[in-house]
Amino acid sequence: MKTRITELFGIEHPIIQGGMHYVGFAELAAAVSNAGGLGIITGLTQKTPAALANEIARCHDMTDKPFGVNLTFLPTVSTPDYPGYIQAIVDGGVKIVETAGNNPQQWMPLLHDAGIKVIHKCTSVRHSLKAQSIGCDAVSVDGFECGGHPGEDDVPNFILLPRAADELEIPFVASGGMADGRSLVAAMALGADGMNMGTRFIATQEAPVHENVKQAIVAASELDTRLIMRPLRNTERVLNNAAVERILEKEKELGDKITFQDIFEEVAGVYSRILVDGDMDAGAFSCGMVVGLINDVPTVKELIDGIMAEAKSIISDRLAGLRR
Ligand SMILES: Cc1cc2nc3c(=O)[nH]c(=O)nc-3n(C[C@H](O)[C@H](O)[C@H](O)COP(=O)(O)O)c2cc1C
Repeated sequence: MKTRITELFGIEHPIIQGGMHYVGFAELAAAVSNAGGLGIITGLTQKTPAALANEIARCHDMTDKPFGVNLTFLPTVSTPDYPGYIQAIVDGGVKIVETAGNNPQQWMPLLHDAGIKVIHKCTSVRHSLKAQSIGCDAVSVDGFECGGHPGEDDVPNFILLPRAADELEIPFVASGGMADGRSLVAAMALGADGMNMGTRFIATQEAPVHENVKQAIVAASELDTRLIMRPLRNTERVLNNAAVERILEKEKELGDKITFQDIFEEVAGVYSRILVDGDMDAGAFSCGMVVGLINDVPTVKELIDGIMAEAKSIISDRLAGLRR
């Protein structure tokens, strides 16, 4: 399938694996790229620029195909060494960066001068237009359904994607709630040039996370995610568990007076305990409503081939049949 996204990134299928903290290691990024999609290493999961350089080198050892690195600009306990991370990306010969969180404007000259294409993740039409105006090559439009940070506007993809299509000139992918061939065809029908998946890629053989996480995703339904940190204007969609229920209790009790310190234990530094050690109640971790559509743990290649086959059959059989 050829779209503006496959052309821009030199990939076979219009499917991107979004950056995911403690999931987007070289093993997953390489598997996605080898299967014809675009795999993405999560920059900040690597504790130093040197560690990121090493992860990029490991990924080059596992694939000859294009892959990217995610750089997230969100409130964190301490400010990461962004110039150092960008240098590691440039030196590592990576040609695609997925930015997310704050506006990446200050880093654009460094990235573009190194011949790097930038896809910025946005949760609104106004942020997408801003990304276009500062020279981003593409955007990833994340609807309210998405795992991670959906922003504060709460606009789901059935509205957000056609709105983005009406306004944007640069290519964009649909993100949030994407799982299968139906998602891909629907995303294209709504005006996107491809799709980005997060949660779906966690439940794959190659995702280097604890088996408990994959099984929790398979077991969960579309009713099992919650929004936390809304009073802090840092809303995150997470899989419900005992720690998330404690956070929601505190939010109810403290209202607008809540601070990050009040939920520190449930959100700070918990990703490795959950995703690496498999301690599923250790804290809150991002997860999309799309868990309700995930019932298996295929290889990445089986997943992507299945998506493409289903998409083609929907277009040429089901939809073409409606013309009769
Ligand atoms: C466990 C997990 C961790 C994530 N970490 C990040 C991150 O560090 N940076 C980022 O830009 N997006 C992050 N995301 C968001 C994904 O890249 C993607 O935009 C989102 O998962 C899409 O929604 P979906 O889960 O419904 O497919 C994360 C998502 C999940 C599920």
